[in-house]
Amino acid sequence: MDRNEQKRQAALRALDFVEDGSVIGVGTGSTVAHFIDGLGKIRNRIEGAVSSSEQSTRQLESLGIPVLDLNAVGELSLYVDGADECDPHRRLIKGGGAALTREKIVAAASREFICIIDDSKQVDILGKFPLPVEVVPMARSHVGREIARLGGQPVWRDGVVTDNDGWILDVHGWSIIDPVDLEAKLNQIVGVISNGLFAARPADRVIVGDRILDQ
Ligand code: 5RP
Repeated sequence: MDRNEQKRQAALRALDFVEDGSVIGVGTGSTVAHFIDGLGKIRNRIEGAVSSSEQSTRQLESLGIPVLDLNAVGELSLYVDGADECDPHRRLIKGGGAALTREKIVAAASREFICIIDDSKQVDILGKFPLPVEVVPMARSHVGREIARLGGQPVWRDGVVTDNDGWILDVHGWSIIDPVDLEAKLNQIVGVISNGLFAARPADRVIVGDRILDQ
């Protein structure tokens, strides 16, 4: 199965977890685009979706799925999103599409987070994929220096402005042995909006292609 077909299969499997009448948290990216297509086909069964990006919002709306404000709904039963890397403990690197902050917020507000990926995303240790860190623009250099002190090599994703008007630093050179610790350390740097480690709140379930991984 090629990568795109694996993404499509994972998205289809995730649709089985959608509860009737619920509001679904929706991530961002090419894998999630398949999930949104599937949601479009069952749109009459759900109340709507909370979106993690303008990109996903446009797709949801084009399929007639109501996009709801997270502040207007309670805890979500389900959040479905892709990832750039996933380790055996379901800890993730996300943010390749620059949507990490809203993704993290919707994941935090959801009871179950299902991560849908193709098998190229599975790694033993996180960090080969450069770790995205979203920053307040005026803090870019300061945050970059602090990250260098932590041993990372930050590269500014020049030209990219996030949905929150933030900028992205992609951090190279890390083999992330303790992602929970690094996630917390990065969050403590003044000027960091959020970082792409989903370790304190990992995925609850991972679907790789048509396979649901053992918990
Ligand atoms: C966006 C993300 C995506 O989930 C991640 O980049 C994976 O994307 P794709 O499904 O296109 O491979 O974190 O910010």
